[in-house]
Amino acid sequence: PMSITAPNSLNIAPASISDYRQLAAQRLPRQLFDYIDGGSYQEITLQQNLHAYDKVALKQRILRDVSQVNTRTQLLGQSLAMPVILAPVGLAGCYAKRGEVQALAAAHHYNIPFCLSTVSICSIEELAKTQQNFWFQLYVIKDRSYAIKLLNRAKKAGCNTLVLTVDLPVLGERYRDIRNGLSMNKSVIGSIKRAIDIASHPYWLWNVAIKGKPLVFGNLTEAVAGANSLDDFKSWVDSQFDASMTWQDLKWLRDHWQGKLIIKGIMDSEDAQQAVALGADAIVVSNHGGRQLDGVPATLAVLPEIAQVINKQCSIILDGGIRSGLDIVKAIALGADACMIGRAWAYALAAKGEQGVSHVLQILHNEMQTAMALTGVNQVDEINDKILFGKSNKIS
Ligand code: FNR
Repeated sequence: PMSITAPNSLNIAPASISDYRQLAAQRLPRQLFDYIDGGSYQEITLQQNLHAYDKVALKQRILRDVSQVNTRTQLLGQSLAMPVILAPVGLAGCYAKRGEVQALAAAHHYNIPFCLSTVSICSIEELAKTQQNFWFQLYVIKDRSYAIKLLNRAKKAGCNTLVLTVDLPVLGERYRDIRNGLSMNKSVIGSIKRAIDIASHPYWLWNVAIKGKPLVFGNLTEAVAGANSLDDFKSWVDSQFDASMTWQDLKWLRDHWQGKLIIKGIMDSEDAQQAVALGADAIVVSNHGGRQLDGVPATLAVLPEIAQVINKQCSIILDGGIRSGLDIVKAIALGADACMIGRAWAYALAAKGEQGVSHVLQILHNEMQTAMALTGVNQVDEINDKILFGKSNKIS
């Protein structure tokens, strides 16, 4: 199996995030690619997220001395090389060997934050061993004592920023996962299909499933005693989403976390204000990448109103559908301080590991710089709706 080469029917050097998406589709078993690529129900929100950027036009300006374009920015007291954060993405260690460690290395190299998911393959401690800083994302699970344990582990590992994801009191159904036998309703046919899918991707099987072991949920091994498959972990996680959560619980969490607190999954300006009132240092305007409530608008469409209401009382991060540096510039022009990318880094990791993630960050950086230069701005804090052509209310 040593001689198994990586499939690359593109036969070109990947130039864009959509090229990386194609490479990921070739390298990963179908069920895993669909898990990353898909959204809930009819995938309408997923599509809205992507296409919202097409509806925002930039204004070309000339002769403004753009020889000093710089993407550096400040976020929550941290200096970032560009306003980009690697979003928490579950199961990354299934996309490439020890995937979270590889993605963290790329983020560290580019001096931007990496956020570790609760449901990562590599544990908090495995990342801490690299001596590179990272953020931690928490789902408030029913077992509150385990949630506190996770917070303490993150603290001990030196994490100073917690991302609390609040848009999963129940799980949005993803049809692709059901069809691929990835959801809980197992059938014999489903198991056979999964086995064939895996066997027909020997590159992945050898490099990730075999060489990348153990494929367990690194942060949850203590919670799910005796678990010996990812399915066992998944059923525990599915049973732990807490539909009874309220703002009271957020208050409880604020009291247990002294570091920076970011609330992820806000799509409404009243909710945004409430989050600020309870002490959030930042919010993430997010619809979970179109993976939860299908039918909500694109995140970019709700951003201007939320930014107006928040009026700089806390930082605003936006995610959903970002596939280029131009998208990032548009999001900042409409009120975001920074953007999280999810699938963009997951595709790159699946395609080429750390090197792929680094390349995607390089691509985003170059594209941002060019968009800034051609709209006539030199600094991130000069990016506002004056660089947009026409009114921002064109998105809806
Ligand atoms: C996610 N997302 C997510 N969010 C979170 O808070 N915890 C998690 O474990 C995960 N897991 C996860 C897995 C996969 C495969 C995807 C695609 C997404 C949501 C993620 O953080 C982010 O909100 C979206 O991915 C942003 O949309 P784009 O950039 O993927 O379009």
